[in-house]
Amino acid sequence: MLELARVDAYYGSSWILKAVSLAVPDGGIVALLGRNGAGKSTTLKTIMGLVAPRAGSVRFGGAEIGGSTPHAVNRRGIAYVPEERRIFADLTVDEHLAIATRSHDWPAERIFGIFPELVPLRDRRGRFLSGGEQQMLAIARALVTGPRLLLLDEPSQGLAPRIVDVVIASIEAMRDEGLAILLVEQNVELALEVADRAAIIDQGAIVFDGTAAELRGRSDLQTTYLGVGT
Ligand SMILES: Nc1ncnc2c1ncn2[C@@H]1O[C@H](COP(=O)(O)OP(=O)(O)OP(=O)(O)O)[C@@H](O)[C@H]1O
Ligand SMILES: [Mg+2]
Repeated sequence: MLELARVDAYYGSSWILKAVSLAVPDGGIVALLGRNGAGKSTTLKTIMGLVAPRAGSVRFGGAEIGGSTPHAVNRRGIAYVPEERRIFADLTVDEHLAIATRSHDWPAERIFGIFPELVPLRDRRGRFLSGGEQQMLAIARALVTGPRLLLLDEPSQGLAPRIVDVVIASIEAMRDEGLAILLVEQNVELALEVADRAAIIDQGAIVFDGTAAELRGRSDLQTTYLGVGT
């Protein structure tokens, strides 16, 4: 479905992504893991059209999308939930969803089936939502644009363990609805619990690409590249 082949990306003259190749199959969850500054967010931004690749190709559903605008990439069926959630303080939950909705595929019942915790909060303004509630709303807002692929940047960041479980449940519910997900995470355990496949990026280069089960058994890689158990 999504395929990056030897993608290079830069911020100004800083070479960040180095020949990144990565695939997300239809309906699968792929975890993209790596240390701080490894290039995870830059990879998502490059897919989304927020950073233009200088080399390589980004293909989605058979078409080249590398260098397209974020708006055009979203129209093709990719939605992005950035690290910073960008919830509006003065808009209610329902208002956030109403302004983002572009697809008849996601009526309220379907959205709130995935995020039941948001039902009693529909009239609450952004400024009164907890971090976890804001994260759920940010994902819900991406869903109502009608994507086939969702890019999630560290959805568990800063959330209490109980709330992380709720976010995991919503990720699994979306997968069960047929969405493909590219999940960037620092929480390796969480990511390997939900993902089918996993890739590790280090200093802008992919150093592992395999099944989540395989990476679960590779404590050497987890120690070297993810700082797990050190
Ligand atoms: N707007 C920018 N301008 C210049 N350099 C940037 C910019 N954004 C990120 N970088 C640099 O690019 C590299 C990759 O950053 P990126 O945000 O992709 O890392 P990350 O893996 O998402 O890290 P984190 O886990 O901290 O979110 C880092 O060295 C970072 O300092
Ligand atoms: Mg990041």
